[in-house]
Amino acid sequence: MPLTSYVTLGRSGLRVSPFTLGTMTFGEDLGWGSSPEEAKAILAAYLDRGGNSVDTANVYTNGHAEVIIGEYLAGRPGMRDRIVLGTKFFWNLHLGDPNGGGPGRKAVIQQLDNSLRRLQTDYVDIYWLHNFDPVTPAEETLRALDDLVTAGKVRYVGFSDVPAWATAEAATIARFRGWAPIIALQLEYSLLERTTEGELIPMAQAMGMGVLPWGPLKSGFLSGKYSSAATGDVDTTRTALVGTPSQEDYRVIDTVNEVASEAGTSAAAVALAWVQARPGVTSTLIGARRMDQLEANLSALDLTLSPEHQERLNEVSAPRLNFPAENNANLARLAHNGGTTVDGLATPAPPRLHEAPVY
Ligand SMILES: NC(=O)c1ccc[n+]([C@@H]2O[C@H](COP(=O)([O-])OP(=O)(O)OC[C@H]3O[C@@H](n4cnc5c(N)ncnc54)[C@H](OP(=O)(O)O)[C@@H]3O)[C@@H](O)[C@H]2O)c1
Repeated sequence: MPLTSYVTLGRSGLRVSPFTLGTMTFGEDLGWGSSPEEAKAILAAYLDRGGNSVDTANVYTNGHAEVIIGEYLAGRPGMRDRIVLGTKFFWNLHLGDPNGGGPGRKAVIQQLDNSLRRLQTDYVDIYWLHNFDPVTPAEETLRALDDLVTAGKVRYVGFSDVPAWATAEAATIARFRGWAPIIALQLEYSLLERTTEGELIPMAQAMGMGVLPWGPLKSGFLSGKYSSAATGDVDTTRTALVGTPSQEDYRVIDTVNEVASEAGTSAAAVALAWVQARPGVTSTLIGARRMDQLEANLSALDLTLSPEHQERLNEVSAPRLNFPAENNANLARLAHNGGTTVDGLATPAPPRLHEAPVY
C-alpha cells in the first residue's frame, strides 16, 4: 500500500495517508532528535512519496519543530495547500504566564497565532487539544475552536490523550451545539500499549472519529534494536527519556523480532504493520530520527502480516483491560440470536446456557 492510499479521517471529508509523519524529533534542542537539515530531508522524502499528513505541536522542541516545517514549506511554493498539517495546543511555552498554555479561550487563540507564525501559514488543517485539562469547561474550549474554524484559521478539530468519557461528552456537546466536530483522536497504541482498546478505540469507532496511534514503536523498543539476548549499547538517543524495556516488554519484543526474521523484514515494519491493520486505526504516526529509520518504517506499507503471525503477536501482547471491557466482551454475545448487523458484522447466537425451561 503506498502513501498515496489516502483514506478519510473519521466521519469527515479530509483524506490522509496511511502513515502520518511525526515531527517530535525535529530539532536537537532537547538533547535528542534530528538536526534541522536532516529533519527537512526526512520531510521532503515523505512528501515526495505522496505522503500528505504531517503532525507537529507547539511544544515540540519548544516551537523549533514548527519553525523547521515552516521554513521547509516556505521554500516549496504550492506545497502548503497540498498537505494536511496538524499542530497542537496545551503545553505552556511561557512559564510564569498562567494563561500561556492550556485549553482556555485566551490561551487557545494565542497558541494558534504563535503556531501559525512559526509555521509561516495562515491556517492549520487539524488543531489538536494535546492533553486533558479537568478544569476548563469543555464548552469554552469547543466554542473557541469553533470560532477559529469560522475565522478560517483551523479546518478540523482533534483530541489527543483525553479520557474516553470526556471526549464523548465534548463530542456530544459539539454535535448538539452545531460546533466543529471532533473528527480524530491521537492515542498511544502499540504492541506494548494496548489498553486504548478498552474504551477509547471502541468510542472512536462508534462516534465516527479516526484514530492516529502515536508511539507505535514504543519509542524504539519495537524497532529491532532491543532483544532480551542483546548486550552492549543500543543505537538510541532516548534512553534518558524512556528508560529500558522491562522483562514483560521483552516477551513482546522477542516475538516481534522472531516474526520479523520469519517474514524476512524488519521488526519496525512488523510493529508498524500490526498497528496500522488494527480495527479503528486510520493513519499511524511514524517518528524517525534519521533517514534510514524513515526508510525502514515506510517499508511497513508493503507488509501484510500472515494470520498466523498476527495471532502470535495478538496473543503475546494481549492487554488486561479495565472493567467493564473484558466483562462486556464475554457477555455481549449472550444478547444476540445470530445473524449479522446491517453492515455485515456477525452476531453469533450464544451457546445454550442450560436446557431448563424459560419461565
Ligand atoms: N499526541 C501525543 O501525545 C503524542 C505523543 C508522542 C508522539 N506523538 C506524535 O507521534 C509521533 C511518533 O511518536 P514516537 O516518536 O513516540 O514514535 P515511535 O515510533 O514509538 O518512536 C520513535 C523513535 O524510535 C526510534 N526509531 C524510529 N524508527 C526506527 C527504526 N526504523 N529503527 C530504529 N529506531 C527507530 C527513534 O529514536 P532513537 O533512534 O533515538 O532510538 C525515534 O525517535 C511523534 O513524532 C509525534 O508527532 C504524539
